[in-house]
Amino acid sequence: MGVNSSLLGRRVLDIGCSDGGHAFACAARGAEVVGIDAEDSPRNEGRNNFAENRRLLGLDVDYRAAPIAEVTHEFAGAFDVVLFLNVLYHMRDPAQGLRDVSAVVAPGGTLYVKTLIYSPLPSRVQPLLGGRPGPSLWRRPRCYSAGRYGADDRTLFCRPNWWFVPAHLEKNGLAVERVRRRGDRQFVVARRPGGGASG
Ligand SMILES: C[S@@+](CC[C@H](N)C(=O)[O-])C[C@H]1O[C@@H](n2cnc3c(N)ncnc32)[C@H](O)[C@@H]1O
Repeated sequence: MGVNSSLLGRRVLDIGCSDGGHAFACAARGAEVVGIDAEDSPRNEGRNNFAENRRLLGLDVDYRAAPIAEVTHEFAGAFDVVLFLNVLYHMRDPAQGLRDVSAVVAPGGTLYVKTLIYSPLPSRVQPLLGGRPGPSLWRRPRCYSAGRYGADDRTLFCRPNWWFVPAHLEKNGLAVERVRRRGDRQFVVARRPGGGASG
Protein backbone atom coordinates (compact mmCIF):
# COMPACT_ATOMS: atom_id res chain seq x y z
CA MET A 1 0.00 0.00 0.00
CA GLY A 2 1.91 3.05 -1.24
CA VAL A 3 1.15 6.48 0.15
CA ASN A 4 -0.55 7.58 -3.07
CA SER A 5 -2.11 4.28 -4.10
CA SER A 6 -5.85 4.03 -4.61
CA LEU A 7 -7.76 1.72 -2.31
CA LEU A 8 -10.96 1.81 -4.32
CA GLY A 9 -13.08 -1.22 -3.55
CA ARG A 10 -10.62 -2.61 -0.98
CA ARG A 11 -11.89 -3.65 2.45
CA VAL A 12 -9.74 -2.20 5.22
CA LEU A 13 -9.81 -2.95 8.95
CA ASP A 14 -7.95 -0.57 11.28
CA ILE A 15 -7.50 -2.42 14.58
CA GLY A 16 -6.98 -0.11 17.54
CA CYS A 17 -7.92 2.85 15.35
CA SER A 18 -8.24 5.33 18.25
CA ASP A 19 -9.09 8.76 16.72
CA GLY A 20 -9.16 7.15 13.25
CA GLY A 21 -6.27 8.90 11.46
CA HIS A 22 -5.28 5.85 9.43
CA ALA A 23 -8.88 4.70 8.92
CA PHE A 24 -9.91 8.07 7.48
CA ALA A 25 -6.83 8.24 5.26
CA CYS A 26 -7.80 4.86 3.75
CA ALA A 27 -11.45 5.91 3.33
CA ALA A 28 -10.31 9.07 1.52
CA ARG A 29 -8.54 6.78 -0.99
CA GLY A 30 -11.74 4.91 -1.73
CA ALA A 31 -11.56 1.97 0.69
CA GLU A 32 -14.50 0.49 2.52
CA VAL A 33 -13.22 0.90 6.08
CA VAL A 34 -14.06 -0.45 9.51
CA GLY A 35 -12.29 0.98 12.54
CA ILE A 36 -12.28 -1.01 15.74
CA ASP A 37 -11.04 -0.02 19.16
CA ALA A 38 -11.32 -1.63 22.58
CA GLU A 39 -12.40 1.66 24.13
CA ASP A 40 -16.11 1.26 24.64
CA SER A 41 -18.05 4.28 25.83
CA PRO A 42 -21.34 4.07 23.90
CA ARG A 43 -21.81 7.86 24.10
CA ASN A 44 -18.83 8.71 21.93
CA GLU A 45 -18.03 5.39 20.24
CA GLY A 46 -15.12 5.06 22.60
CA ARG A 47 -13.35 7.72 24.66
CA ASN A 48 -11.44 8.75 21.55
CA ASN A 49 -12.44 11.44 19.02
CA PHE A 50 -13.42 9.00 16.27
CA ALA A 51 -17.08 10.05 16.03
CA GLU A 52 -16.24 13.74 16.04
CA ASN A 53 -13.50 13.33 13.41
CA ARG A 54 -15.83 11.30 11.20
CA ARG A 55 -18.45 14.04 11.41
CA LEU A 56 -15.93 16.76 10.63
CA LEU A 57 -14.42 14.86 7.68
CA GLY A 58 -17.76 13.60 6.37
CA LEU A 59 -16.29 10.18 5.62
CA ASP A 60 -18.29 6.98 5.75
CA VAL A 61 -16.27 4.76 8.12
CA ASP A 62 -17.86 2.10 10.30
CA TYR A 63 -16.72 1.91 13.96
CA ARG A 64 -16.85 -0.98 16.39
CA ALA A 65 -16.19 -0.37 20.06
CA ALA A 66 -14.80 -3.82 20.93
CA PRO A 67 -11.53 -5.64 21.42
CA ILE A 68 -10.44 -7.52 18.29
CA ALA A 69 -11.01 -10.88 20.01
CA GLU A 70 -14.76 -10.19 20.10
CA VAL A 71 -15.15 -9.84 16.33
CA THR A 72 -12.63 -12.37 15.04
CA HIS A 73 -15.32 -14.87 14.02
CA GLU A 74 -17.59 -12.30 12.42
CA PHE A 75 -14.70 -10.76 10.47
CA ALA A 76 -12.83 -14.00 9.63
CA GLY A 77 -11.01 -13.64 6.29
CA ALA A 78 -12.95 -10.48 5.46
CA PHE A 79 -10.33 -7.77 4.88
CA ASP A 80 -7.89 -7.03 2.03
CA VAL A 81 -5.85 -4.65 4.18
CA VAL A 82 -5.50 -4.96 7.95
CA LEU A 83 -3.74 -2.28 9.98
CA PHE A 84 -2.47 -3.27 13.41
CA LEU A 85 -0.42 -0.27 14.36
CA ASN A 86 0.90 0.40 17.86
CA VAL A 87 -1.57 -1.96 19.55
CA LEU A 88 0.27 -5.25 20.17
CA TYR A 89 2.20 -3.94 23.16
CA HIS A 90 -1.11 -3.09 24.86
CA MET A 91 -2.15 -6.76 24.82
CA ARG A 92 -1.85 -9.10 27.78
CA ASP A 93 -1.70 -12.11 25.45
CA PRO A 94 0.21 -10.97 22.34
CA ALA A 95 0.35 -14.46 20.78
CA GLN A 96 -3.45 -14.72 20.92
CA GLY A 97 -3.67 -11.12 19.66
CA LEU A 98 -1.63 -12.02 16.56
CA ARG A 99 -3.86 -15.09 16.02
CA ASP A 100 -6.99 -12.91 16.10
CA VAL A 101 -5.46 -10.28 13.84
CA SER A 102 -4.20 -12.85 11.32
CA ALA A 103 -7.63 -14.50 11.16
CA VAL A 104 -9.32 -11.45 9.66
CA VAL A 105 -6.92 -11.17 6.68
CA ALA A 106 -8.54 -12.33 3.42
CA PRO A 107 -6.71 -14.67 1.01
CA GLY A 108 -4.34 -12.36 -0.91
CA GLY A 109 -4.78 -9.66 1.73
CA THR A 110 -2.01 -7.79 3.53
CA LEU A 111 -1.41 -7.18 7.22
CA TYR A 112 0.66 -4.22 8.44
CA VAL A 113 1.98 -4.50 12.01
CA LYS A 114 3.86 -1.81 13.89
CA THR A 115 4.96 -2.37 17.44
CA LEU A 116 7.40 -1.37 20.10
CA ILE A 117 10.01 -4.07 20.47
CA TYR A 118 12.68 -4.84 23.01
CA SER A 119 16.19 -5.33 21.70
CA PRO A 120 19.61 -4.73 23.18
CA LEU A 121 20.97 -4.34 19.62
CA PRO A 122 21.31 -1.01 17.83
CA SER A 123 18.72 -0.48 15.02
CA ARG A 124 21.33 -0.71 12.28
CA VAL A 125 22.78 -4.00 13.49
CA GLN A 126 19.47 -5.81 14.10
CA PRO A 127 18.42 -6.40 10.46
CA LEU A 128 21.79 -8.04 9.75
CA LEU A 129 20.56 -11.01 11.79
CA GLY A 130 17.57 -11.41 9.45
CA GLY A 131 13.83 -11.15 9.96
CA ARG A 132 13.23 -14.87 10.22
CA PRO A 133 13.52 -16.59 13.59
CA GLY A 134 16.28 -19.17 13.82
CA PRO A 135 17.16 -22.20 15.91
CA SER A 136 19.78 -20.42 17.99
CA LEU A 137 19.03 -19.02 21.43
CA TRP A 138 19.81 -15.59 20.03
CA ARG A 139 17.12 -15.73 17.32
CA ARG A 140 14.35 -17.25 19.40
CA PRO A 141 10.96 -15.41 19.32
CA ARG A 142 10.23 -13.97 22.75
CA CYS A 143 7.91 -11.48 24.34
CA TYR A 144 8.91 -9.72 27.55
CA SER A 145 6.56 -8.32 30.12
CA ALA A 146 6.80 -4.54 29.94
CA GLY A 147 7.04 -4.17 33.70
CA ARG A 148 10.27 -6.11 33.76
CA TYR A 149 11.84 -3.58 31.40
CA GLY A 150 10.59 -0.48 33.15
CA ALA A 151 7.46 0.75 31.37
CA ASP A 152 6.18 4.09 32.54
CA ASP A 153 2.89 3.56 30.67
CA ARG A 154 0.32 1.52 32.63
CA THR A 155 -1.43 0.36 29.45
CA LEU A 156 1.76 -1.20 28.13
CA PHE A 157 1.92 -4.93 28.86
CA CYS A 158 4.56 -6.47 26.66
CA ARG A 159 7.52 -5.93 24.38
CA PRO A 160 8.23 -8.58 21.77
CA ASN A 161 11.72 -9.13 20.43
CA TRP A 162 12.55 -8.78 16.73
CA TRP A 163 11.50 -12.35 15.88
CA PHE A 164 8.24 -12.62 17.81
CA VAL A 165 5.86 -10.99 15.34
CA PRO A 166 7.28 -12.62 12.17
CA ALA A 167 7.29 -16.05 13.86
CA HIS A 168 3.67 -15.79 15.03
CA LEU A 169 2.40 -14.44 11.71
CA GLU A 170 4.01 -17.37 9.88
CA LYS A 171 2.56 -19.77 12.44
CA ASN A 172 -0.86 -18.29 11.63
CA GLY A 173 -0.49 -18.94 7.89
CA LEU A 174 0.80 -15.58 6.66
CA ALA A 175 3.90 -15.05 4.52
CA VAL A 176 6.18 -12.39 5.99
CA GLU A 177 7.29 -10.01 3.24
CA ARG A 178 9.12 -7.22 5.03
CA VAL A 179 10.62 -6.61 8.47
CA ARG A 180 12.05 -3.21 9.32
CA ARG A 181 13.08 -1.41 12.45
CA ARG A 182 13.42 2.23 13.37
CA GLY A 183 14.59 2.89 16.92
CA ASP A 184 12.49 0.77 19.27
CA ARG A 185 9.65 0.26 16.74
CA GLN A 186 9.35 -2.64 14.33
CA PHE A 187 7.28 -2.67 11.14
CA VAL A 188 6.21 -6.00 9.61
CA VAL A 189 4.29 -6.58 6.38
CA ALA A 190 2.76 -10.01 5.79
CA ARG A 191 0.39 -11.49 3.24
CA ARG A 192 -2.10 -14.33 3.37
CA PRO A 193 -1.42 -16.58 0.38
CA GLY A 194 -4.17 -17.13 -2.17
CA GLY A 195 -6.77 -14.84 -3.69
CA GLY A 196 -6.17 -12.43 -6.53
CA ALA A 197 -5.91 -9.17 -4.58
CA SER A 198 -2.74 -7.27 -3.84
CA GLY A 199 -2.23 -5.13 -0.72
C1 LIG B 1 -1.27 3.64 20.91
S1 LIG B 1 -2.93 3.61 20.32
C2 LIG B 1 -2.63 3.39 18.56
C3 LIG B 1 -3.58 4.18 17.70
C4 LIG B 1 -3.33 4.07 16.19
N1 LIG B 1 -3.44 2.69 15.74
C5 LIG B 1 -2.00 4.65 15.83
O1 LIG B 1 -1.08 3.92 15.46
O2 LIG B 1 -1.85 5.89 15.91
C6 LIG B 1 -3.51 1.99 20.81
C7 LIG B 1 -5.01 1.80 20.62
O3 LIG B 1 -5.28 0.40 20.62
C8 LIG B 1 -6.50 0.17 21.31
N2 LIG B 1 -6.51 -1.25 21.74
C9 LIG B 1 -5.78 -1.84 22.73
N3 LIG B 1 -6.06 -3.15 22.81
C10 LIG B 1 -6.98 -3.41 21.83
C11 LIG B 1 -7.66 -4.60 21.42
N4 LIG B 1 -7.46 -5.79 22.03
N5 LIG B 1 -8.54 -4.52 20.38
C12 LIG B 1 -8.75 -3.33 19.77
N6 LIG B 1 -8.14 -2.17 20.13
C13 LIG B 1 -7.26 -2.21 21.15
C14 LIG B 1 -6.45 1.20 22.45
O4 LIG B 1 -7.74 1.48 22.96
C15 LIG B 1 -5.83 2.42 21.73
O5 LIG B 1 -6.81 3.28 21.19
